[in-house]
Amino acid sequence: MDHGALILGIESSCDETAAAIVRSGEELVSSVVASQIATHSPFGGVVPELASREHLRSLVPVTRAALAEANLSYADVDAVAVTNGPGLAGALLTGISFAKSLAWALDKPLIAVNHIEGHIHAVLLEQKGAAALRFPVLALVVSGGHTHLFLAGQRGPHSRHSLHPSSHPSSHPSWYYENVGHTRDDAAGEAFDKTAKLLGLGYPGGPIIDRLAKFGDPKAVHFTFAQLKHRARQESRRAAPIGSDRKRFDFSYSGIKTAVLRYVEVHRMAEAIEARRQALAQLVSDGKFPSQEDYRRLCDQQTLDLVASFQAAMVADLTQRTLAACEEYGVETLLVTGGVAANSALRSSFEERALRVGVQVHFPSRPMSTDNAAMIAAAAYPKWLARDFAGLDLTAQANLPLR
Ligand code: KG4
Ligand code: ZN
Repeated sequence: MDHGALILGIESSCDETAAAIVRSGEELVSSVVASQIATHSPFGGVVPELASREHLRSLVPVTRAALAEANLSYADVDAVAVTNGPGLAGALLTGISFAKSLAWALDKPLIAVNHIEGHIHAVLLEQKGAAALRFPVLALVVSGGHTHLFLAGQRGPHSRHSLHPSSHPSSHPSWYYENVGHTRDDAAGEAFDKTAKLLGLGYPGGPIIDRLAKFGDPKAVHFTFAQLKHRARQESRRAAPIGSDRKRFDFSYSGIKTAVLRYVEVHRMAEAIEARRQALAQLVSDGKFPSQEDYRRLCDQQTLDLVASFQAAMVADLTQRTLAACEEYGVETLLVTGGVAANSALRSSFEERALRVGVQVHFPSRPMSTDNAAMIAAAAYPKWLARDFAGLDLTAQANLPLR
């Protein structure tokens, strides 16, 4: 009996060690994620050396747990897929070395997956593939390391949409991507994390800000963003292949962090921030994970208003630029994915505004929005069909582009 292709995915690009098994790109069999938040939170951000050490510790138990959850053994796996970039070089290398050893020992193919493509496939996995998607498809990948817009197309005999119809015939439909926007400086998740750190709220900032923003006035503080569109277009023309006149939709999120810092200084909030930072650090060192009630109790109304206004500004900018790109490219389906896609205000903003302009929007479930290995195993499936395998010389590419 054909059981479909069982792909074991391994992910270690940042601060999550993950393993998962996905059947034929569409059926989640098991998924295990070991978070390193407790390791990094005393430092207010990811410490690369500690991340590598933790991955080394967790890779074997996490993989064993994923197999046990699936009631499978190593021998049942058809291929091993691993993230080879972008990400922290040392962290990526731990997962790659492990995946290579496994593939070699099991005599199974090794498949290299771009982490950003993984985030896109997190949505496709939960949508049970691309069959129900209306093309053109645009993906916003918005996380701690990325804020990218990609037009996503398929090629091959059974493909549903091609960005460049004449290119690359292949025996199986595979995905390819065209970048039409990215952040010029900080990623959106980075802005959430830096703002939370600046306000003494700890790490990672996104989920904390998401929960606190509900208690503040989103109109209390006015933030503005740089007008990038015109300059971005000229730059992209210079960088684009001759004849290409693709319009770009870039982002910039380092300015808002500076604006928050200026607000904090002008309103003399430093003392209250330091008191909050110490109170939260005390809770953590007492072994108590701070609750929503703890965070709320430690924030005055001015801080809650600032947090709510920051989040509202980020959400409005991400939504507006992405929907402008949807309009430019006649997009029918929008995929919003990556850690920041877990944000409740971002989800409602996209749902409401995309509906208004007739664009279908899909998000991954919240656990599938942040880093996991199921998305890596799912993204590997079209490569498995196309026999697009990696050699044992596979190495980490910290800045691997997605194409
Ligand atoms: O995708 P991910 O797990 O790792 C990267 O590839 O970067 O994303 C992590 C990022 C962090 O910056 C975190 O603060 C942000 O996603 N994040 C959120 C939320 N949950 C996670 N940002 C806003 N709201 C959330 N609910
Ligand atoms: Zn990620």
